[in-house]
Amino acid sequence: MKNVTIITHPLVQHNLTRLRDHRTEPQEFRRLLGEIASLMIYEATRSFGVKKTTVRTPLAPAPGSKLEREVALVPILRAGLGMHDAILRLIPHARVGFIGLKREETTLRAMFYHQSFPKNLGRFEVLLIDPMLATGGSTVAALNLLREQGAKYIRVVNLVAAPEGIREVQKHHPRVPIFTAAVDRKLNDKGFILPGLGDAGDRLFGT
Ligand code: PRP
Repeated sequence: MKNVTIITHPLVQHNLTRLRDHRTEPQEFRRLLGEIASLMIYEATRSFGVKKTTVRTPLAPAPGSKLEREVALVPILRAGLGMHDAILRLIPHARVGFIGLKREETTLRAMFYHQSFPKNLGRFEVLLIDPMLATGGSTVAALNLLREQGAKYIRVVNLVAAPEGIREVQKHHPRVPIFTAAVDRKLNDKGFILPGLGDAGDRLFGT
């Protein structure tokens, strides 16, 4: 699938399998999701642009590089919070925006209840973070909003994606790269990913 990177690293897959296990309790679920997010972020940021620079070591000048753009993390509430802490630990200079979205349970339409962003979003590499890409409605709504806010360089970081959700995102935002640990079989008639891992927000927060 074009513009979709499945992160097959054994540690990611090992942790994902434990996250899928229905016996995994919220405390362990949070820890595992954080660990996976840290591992995935290496891959998701690999193609960040860099600028050449030079520093002086105590002995001599040394060629080096620095990130070309600032970084903004934008978790989709609530489940995105389960990944954002771990990523922020690895990119501590990142700014953080939030998008509050809730899927309406019968129509599956994504409804906004919160949004906040760093100013001048256009100069940032934006990582849109949500463990689940199901119908794609939430991600498309979030991407539309980010574009309206001027974001130019966006990538999506998921944990589990459904083929239907990927197709929906690619229909509306074909050039946005998607990084995920798995592309699962399909959605069920309630819009849940099969086999998936259940409702990530509920499993994270024990609701
Ligand atoms: C879930 C999930 C995604 C969204 C995916 O969130 O965390 O944000 O649904 O579904 P979609 O691709 O069909 O839009 P939910 O709306 O249940 O909110 P929560 O994170 O607060 O539990």
